[in-house]
Amino acid sequence: MSRAHDVFSGRTAVITGAGSGIGKGLAQHAASLGMNLVLADIDEARLAAVAADLPGEVLTVVTNVADADAVERLAEAAFERFGSVELVVNNAGVMRIGYSWAISADDWDTAIDVNLRGVVNGIRAFVPRLVAQGTAAHVVNVSSVGGFLPSPMMAPYTATKFAVLGLTESLAMELQMAQSPVRVSVVTPGPVRSEIFAQAPDTEDPALLGFHQYLAQQNLDEGIPGEQYAEIVLEAVAAGEYWVITHPAFTDAGLAARAEMIQNRTAPSIALG
Ligand SMILES: NC(=O)c1ccc[n+]([C@@H]2O[C@H](COP(=O)([O-])OP(=O)(O)OC[C@H]3O[C@@H](n4cnc5c(N)ncnc54)[C@H](O)[C@@H]3O)[C@@H](O)[C@H]2O)c1
Repeated sequence: MSRAHDVFSGRTAVITGAGSGIGKGLAQHAASLGMNLVLADIDEARLAAVAADLPGEVLTVVTNVADADAVERLAEAAFERFGSVELVVNNAGVMRIGYSWAISADDWDTAIDVNLRGVVNGIRAFVPRLVAQGTAAHVVNVSSVGGFLPSPMMAPYTATKFAVLGLTESLAMELQMAQSPVRVSVVTPGPVRSEIFAQAPDTEDPALLGFHQYLAQQNLDEGIPGEQYAEIVLEAVAAGEYWVITHPAFTDAGLAARAEMIQNRTAPSIALG
C-alpha cells in the first residue's frame, strides 16, 4: 500500500475544478485510495459525469470558486456530510491568452477571480475549520510552472499563478506560527492532459492563434493523464512535501536563469522565457 493510502484512506477530500483534467484525475485517484469525496466545479454536467463513474461516497456541490459565499457553502456542506475534512485542493483555474494590453477587462477579471480569488476563498472557508479540527490535514494549492516562469501572451495566467505561489508561502508560514498540524503544499504542473486549452482565444491574430495551437498540441503530446498525475501529487502531499514540482525539466533551468537575470539586473527577454 502507498503512503497516500495510509494517510488518506477513509478521510475526506474537497477538490475544486473536479469536472475535468487534473481535478478529475485527483478525484479518481482519491476515490481509489478509499477517500470520501466532495467535488466542486462550476460546470454541473461535467461534475455529474465525473461523480457518476466514481466508487464510494461522493458529494457534488456546483460551486463558482470566485464567489466567497459559494465556497463557504461548499465548506458547510462538506463538514455537514462527512464531519471532518483532511484534504482540500484548490485546483480550479482558467487560461487567458493575448497581449496583456489587449485582453478584455472581463477576461482579466475572470483569471484573477478564478485563479487567485478562488484560492483565497478556499483558504478563508476551509483553513479556519481545519485549524479548529486540530488534527492532521493538508491544503494543496495548484499553481503552475507558469507560477515560476513568466510567459508572454499569457499575462493573466502568469500574474495569478505567481500570486498563488506567494500566497501559499505566506499561508505555510502562518500555519507554522499558529503551530497547527495543517500542512500546505503547492503544486506546479507542467503539461497534464486536460481541457485548459479547449477554447481558442477570440482573435484573428495568426501569432496568437499559433501560440494557442502550440500549447494545445503540447498538452496533447506531452501531457500525462490526470489520474497518473494525481498519484504523483497525492504521494508527495501525503509525504508532507511543500513543493510538489512535478515537471523539473520545465522548471529548474528556467528558475536558475531567472535568478541570474534578477541578480544581474538583466531585463526580461523572450530568449529567457
Ligand atoms: N493541465 C495542465 O497542463 C496544467 C499546467 C499547469 C497548471 N495547471 C493548473 O491546473 C488546474 C486545473 O487545470 P486543468 O488543466 O485540469 O484544466 P481543465 O480546464 O481541464 O479543468 C478545470 C476545471 O475547473 C473548472 N472551473 C473553471 N472555472 C471555475 C470556477 N469559477 N469555479 C469552479 N470551477 C471552475 C472547469 O469547469 C473545469 O472542470 C488549473 O489551476 C491550471 O491552471 C494545469
